[in-house]
Amino acid sequence: MRAAPEDLQAAVRALRAGELVAFPTETVYGLGADARNPAAVRRIFTVKGRPARHPVIVHLSDASQLAEWAREIPSAAQRLAEQFWPGPLTLVLPRSAGVDDSITGGQDTVALRVPAHPIAQQLLTAFGGGIAAPSANRYGRLSSTCAEHVREELGDAVKVVLDGGECPIGLESTIVAFSNGGVRLLRPGRITAGQIGALLGELVVGADESSPRVPGSTAAHYAPSTPLRIVPAGQIDARSETLSQGGRRVAVLAWRAPLSAHPAVTWINAGPRAQQYGHDLYAHLRLLDKAGCACILVQDVPDGEAWAAVRDRLRRAAAGAGAGASITEAP
Ligand code: TXA
Ligand code: MG
Repeated sequence: MRAAPEDLQAAVRALRAGELVAFPTETVYGLGADARNPAAVRRIFTVKGRPARHPVIVHLSDASQLAEWAREIPSAAQRLAEQFWPGPLTLVLPRSAGVDDSITGGQDTVALRVPAHPIAQQLLTAFGGGIAAPSANRYGRLSSTCAEHVREELGDAVKVVLDGGECPIGLESTIVAFSNGGVRLLRPGRITAGQIGALLGELVVGADESSPRVPGSTAAHYAPSTPLRIVPAGQIDARSETLSQGGRRVAVLAWRAPLSAHPAVTWINAGPRAQQYGHDLYAHLRLLDKAGCACILVQDVPDGEAWAAVRDRLRRAAAGAGAGASITEAP
C-alpha cells in the first residue's frame, strides 16, 4: 500500500507550512505536525481540544534519528528498538536539549516511535524530520482506525488526510519508559509485557507516581458518548435482557453470539480472537455509540496477556463513557 505521489507531496507541503496532516500507522491514525515547529504542534492541541501540558509522541522514519531527540539511550531501549522497530512500540527517553516543551509537556522526557505502516514510512521519509502525532481523535474520544473516522472526529481542521484504509492493529502502541535504570510498561499494546520481559529479563507493569504523565492513563479516555459498562462474561445475556425490558434499546459488544435474540438488543459478536477483537474494537464502539441505545454493555474479555491491551482500553472506556450516569434496571 502506497500513497499517491501528489497526495504525499501535498502532505509534505502542509507539514512544512505548519499545517496538520492525518496519516495511517499500523496502530491507529495519527494527527501529525512538524515536531520542530512549536506553533504547528500547538495547533494539534487546539484541534483535538487536548490540554496543552499533555506530551505527544514524535514519529521518526528510523532509529538512526534517535540521537537527535534523546540525549541518552539506555541499552535496554536500544535492544527494544532493534527488536521491535519499525513497529507498534513507543519509547519514553530523556529528551535532548532543543526538544520543545510543546512536545514534552514540559517534562524532561520525550516519547519516540518508528512506525511500520508503509504510508507513515513514506511520509516520514519524504518529510525528512520528526512528526509529532497523537491519535487523530478529539480529546478523550475513541481513536480513529480509518480515514472516515478521522474526518468525522476532526473535520476540515486537518489539511490533508492520507487514506490507508483500516489500520492493521487498531489499538495504540505499547509505551515503555526508562527511569532510574528500570523499565516500565505505561500502556499495553500489541507488543506484550511478556515479549518485552523475555528480551530484557525485567519489566515493571504500570505507572507509579514518578512515572511520566500519560493522558491515556487518565480515566476518561478512549470513550464513546453512550454510558458503557463491563459485564461479567457469563451474565451478558441475562443483563442485556433485563435492561432491554420495556423496549429500552441496549447495545452489546460480546465475543460470542447471544443465547437468544432480543428485538431491543443490538448485539455485536466480535469473536473470541484477541487480535481481531482489538482490530475492530474502536469501529465497533463507534457503531454501537450511534445505535441510539441507552447503554453499551461489554461482555468482559478473557484473562491473559493476549487480551491485555483490549482489557486496558475497555476499562478506560467504561471509566470515561457517561461515568456519572446510572444504568438502572427497567421496572
Ligand atoms: O499508536 C500510537 O501510539 C498512536 C499512533 C498515532 O502512533 N499515537 C498515540 O498518541 O496513541 P496519543 O497522544 O494518543 O497517545 C500517546 C501517549 C499519550 O498518552 C501521551 O501522554 C504519552 O503517549 N506520552 C507522550 N509523551 C510522553 C512522555 N514524554 N512521557 C510519558 N508519556 C508520554
Ligand atoms: Mg490518543
